[in-house]
Amino acid sequence: MSRSQVEEAAHAVRERLPENPRVAIVLGSGLSDFSDNLSQPVTIPYSEIPHYPELTVPGHVGKLVFGWVDSLPVLVARGRFHYYEEHPLEIVTLPVRLFAHLGVEILIITNAAGCANPRWNEGDLMLITGHLDYTFIDSPADPTLVSGEPFHSQELLALAREAAGEADIPVRQGIYAWCLGPTFETPAEIKEISALGGHAAGMSTVPEIRAAAEEGLQILGISCLTNYAAGIRDTPLNHEEVLATGQRVKAAFARLVLGILKKISS
Ligand code: HPA
Repeated sequence: MSRSQVEEAAHAVRERLPENPRVAIVLGSGLSDFSDNLSQPVTIPYSEIPHYPELTVPGHVGKLVFGWVDSLPVLVARGRFHYYEEHPLEIVTLPVRLFAHLGVEILIITNAAGCANPRWNEGDLMLITGHLDYTFIDSPADPTLVSGEPFHSQELLALAREAAGEADIPVRQGIYAWCLGPTFETPAEIKEISALGGHAAGMSTVPEIRAAAEEGLQILGISCLTNYAAGIRDTPLNHEEVLATGQRVKAAFARLVLGILKKISS
């Protein structure tokens, strides 16, 4: 993906927007209804954006929705591209590059993830304070924990904690581990992720966070812990459970994100 191809994609999107967005939000599995909260929405299907591939994952819709929260212009991505779908990393990160071309300053990146902490609950929301790359794509060595700037904005984390408190939404804080997928992890992998300091396991977000940091965006990650990760409980995991938990917590998720956006706009 060359810079000019990203520019082409951005140009096609910019032409359709009444204003440049300040904040972009990537919505994870089961969380895509959040876009219903935007006023005067403008919808752009991915199929109408040059160089965007087709989506394959159930629960991911495949469109950008622009709109306002109060006076804040927001661009929401319903559906993302995963490395496990055999997309190259430059496709996985294309939406983030496009956001940067559109002048976005803040990225809120969300996902569904498995909960590796037995003391937490399914449906808990977790502010991401750091991440682990557990894919072993780049290096066979033990993943190192990455936290703080420029990948995890301390300012946005503080603002998210405040918004959660004001809306009375309990949130966890922890480390997100990027796993290759497409299958869920094994219990042994989850044990190792915990030992390395991880609290949640998922199949996205880290490549997007890296690209966003390169682009100089301020980044806030939020995980919806849709299920216990493998081996934490006796029951088997499935994608339906991920979507069902997303349905159950989507109202709290929406209130939290709206609270954060209102704080950003004020
Ligand atoms: N593992 C990886 N990704 C996930 C999970 C999980 O348990 N749940 C939702 N996404």
